Amino acid sequence: MNKKINQKILSLIEYYNLLNIDLLINNSPINRFNNNEKLANDLGKSQQLEELKKMIGSIKNCELKNSANKIVFSDGNIYSKIMLIGEGPGAQEDQEGLPFVGRAGKLLDKMLEAINLNRKKVYISNVVNYRPPKNRRPTDQEIERYYPFLKLHIEIINPKILILLGSTALNAIIGNEKVISKVRGKWMKKKIGNCDPYIIASFHPAFLMRQPDQKKLAWIDLKLIREKMKQLNF
Ligand code: URA
Repeated sequence: MNKKINQKILSLIEYYNLLNIDLLINNSPINRFNNNEKLANDLGKSQQLEELKKMIGSIKNCELKNSANKIVFSDGNIYSKIMLIGEGPGAQEDQEGLPFVGRAGKLLDKMLEAINLNRKKVYISNVVNYRPPKNRRPTDQEIERYYPFLKLHIEIINPKILILLGSTALNAIIGNEKVISKVRGKWMKKKIGNCDPYIIASFHPAFLMRQPDQKKLAWIDLKLIREKMKQLNF
């Protein structure tokens, strides 16, 4: 277990180095590597997440970040075995700094409640952490830029079930060739770094608000998630 955490933190440090930011406050050139390893041993999950959040906050020359009010990092239980990924923050999320707190979020809360889940039982984040201007879809370039952070985020949370809400999350995690209407309702497996979750894609709640007749399919997906939770004993 410690080895896995070490690996995550060491990759975190690598990203910091890529960004030219020293993770360690210590400026001494002596024993730097040992210090990194010590840090990896010492950091718990919440600290790893704090470091990741700081790292995202240090992004430079990003249109999303430049036009946004707040970073929208995550909400929910960091120890949950269920992680949901949306597309990116909207206006309300940008004001509050929390994912899925607007109208789509209210629907998401109802969907979760239908299978006896809530924000204390799941963990929620997005493909990009800053609101795209005018709520446009993040570009492929933006998705690529944020993907290393998303991957680390998933590795730190290490969910057993990963729920991809909408095509942006599906394409970011599984690939651009996949179409949500074809792959939804089926369990997929894909290793994301050290994490090997059961993955399911379902419609984004904002899409369901525009196309309420599709809610019956979303309900099928929710029931699959409930069954998987039973199977996995949680
Ligand atoms: N839509 C998303 O994809 N994410 C949010 O956080 C809010 C709306």
